[in-house]
Amino acid sequence: MNRKIVALILGLTLLCAALAGCGGQSTLDKIEKNKKVVWGTNAYFMPFEIREGEDVIGVDAEIAAAVAKKLGVELVVEDMEFESLISALESGTVDFVGAGMTITDERKEKADFSTGYWTAVQVVTVAADDESVLTVGDLSSLVIGVQSGTTGDFVAEDLTNNPDTGIMRYNTVIEAMQDLKNGNIDCVIADDLPSQAIVSQTEGLKILDLAPSDEETYAFAVKKGDTELLNVINEVLAEMMESGEIETLVNKYSLGQ
Ligand code: ARG
Repeated sequence: MNRKIVALILGLTLLCAALAGCGGQSTLDKIEKNKKVVWGTNAYFMPFEIREGEDVIGVDAEIAAAVAKKLGVELVVEDMEFESLISALESGTVDFVGAGMTITDERKEKADFSTGYWTAVQVVTVAADDESVLTVGDLSSLVIGVQSGTTGDFVAEDLTNNPDTGIMRYNTVIEAMQDLKNGNIDCVIADDLPSQAIVSQTEGLKILDLAPSDEETYAFAVKKGDTELLNVINEVLAEMMESGEIETLVNKYSLGQ
C-alpha cells in the first residue's frame, strides 16, 4: 500500500481515538473530577421537595444527599421548572433528577430511570363547597388546573373536551391551588401527597374521592446511558427502601398536615 495512504489512515485513526477520548468522559468521571454532583429538582412538592430559605429539604433531598455521600462528593441543588428537568439532564446542566418524577414511556425515551421508590396517584381538588363533581366524566367540561408538564397535565389532556380552554397550566401545584381558591378555575389535578399537604394548609379546598387515572411510580432519572451513576442511585434506593427509611422520611416531611 502507498505509504502516504498508510500514514493518512494511521493519522485519522489516532485523531478519532483522541476525539472519542475527550467526548467519552462519563458523567461519573466529571462528578469525581469536580468533586460535586448536581441534583435537579423543582422544589415545591411536599413532602418530596420543600424550599426552606436557601435550602431544599424533603424525601428527595435526603435521597440526593445519600447519593452524594455514596459518591464521596458535595451535593449541589439546581431548583428549576419541572418541565425543564429532562432537558437539563440531556444538556448536562444537572447530573441526576429527583423530583417526585413519575416513570412514563415518553420520558423513558429521553432519560434512564432508577428503580421506583414511591407509588402515587392523581387526585382531584375542588372548592370545599363544590358538590357538582360526582364522576371523572364530570371533569371533561371543567377548567382544570395542573402543574405544567406533569402527569396531572397529561391526565387533564386525556379528560378534557376543551383542549384550548379546559386546562390552565401553572409552574407549581401551589399556584394552581391558589387560583382554585380564588375561584378562577374549577379543580386541580395533581399528585396525592402534595395535594393533601396544600389542602390541609389551605382553607376552602377539598380532595374528591375520585381516581382520574392509574397508579404512578416515582423514580430518579439520569441522562441516557449514565449506567454507572444509575447503579449508585439504585444501590442507595435499595438500602433506603429495605430499611424502611423512605417511608419514615415521607412521614417526617408530611408532618404538620
Ligand atoms: N409525578 C408528577 C410527574 O412526574 C409530578 C411531579 C412534580 N414534581 C415536582 N417536584 N414539582 O409528572
